[in-house]
Amino acid sequence: MACVQIPDEKCQIREPAEIRAFLKKYGIVFEQWDVEGRIGPDATNEEILDAYAPEIERLKAAHGFVTADVINVNPETPGLDQMLAKFDKEHLHTEDEVRFTVKGSGVFHINPESDTVFSITVESGDLISVPKGTHHWFNLCTDKTIRCIRLFEDMSGWTPHYMEDPAHENYAPLCMGPSYLNGDQGGPDVEEIVKF
Ligand SMILES: [Fe+2]
Repeated sequence: MACVQIPDEKCQIREPAEIRAFLKKYGIVFEQWDVEGRIGPDATNEEILDAYAPEIERLKAAHGFVTADVINVNPETPGLDQMLAKFDKEHLHTEDEVRFTVKGSGVFHINPESDTVFSITVESGDLISVPKGTHHWFNLCTDKTIRCIRLFEDMSGWTPHYMEDPAHENYAPLCMGPSYLNGDQGGPDVEEIVKF
């Protein structure tokens, strides 16, 4: 279940419809896909793409994406720290960044430039599409695990273009965990994010 945070305003948005409306103001698409029982815990990349083919084909038709693949990141991934270091600094792409989270979690920070920085924690079932040209950065949570479907027109569009005066150093990345969202006893389950 996703959660939007606006650090400068100490505001959190947890309701999916409100998240969708908030993100829409910045051109960001947010959807929640049904994940219950669709893939097994050891599903291959091909099985994941097959399971979510209806949603993938819908997005391809609507937005002109050409193909989809699956990225699988975990603590054993070779070169993980170097890979993540490319994306935890404020940057933009010349292509939309479209990610459906199958497993694990992560945090996108968005810097709309004309408005305050906010973040969105994505977890299993969350689809986010960050429009090309949008300033953003990404961190994993402490389990360093995320498995995502990526959609794209041209993979060269993923090259990060970095900012001269980046904002990411001013924002402490936090993952908003499920028990926080559910309002459980014992205070917020705010998980400090891994810094690379
Ligand atoms: Fe990015």
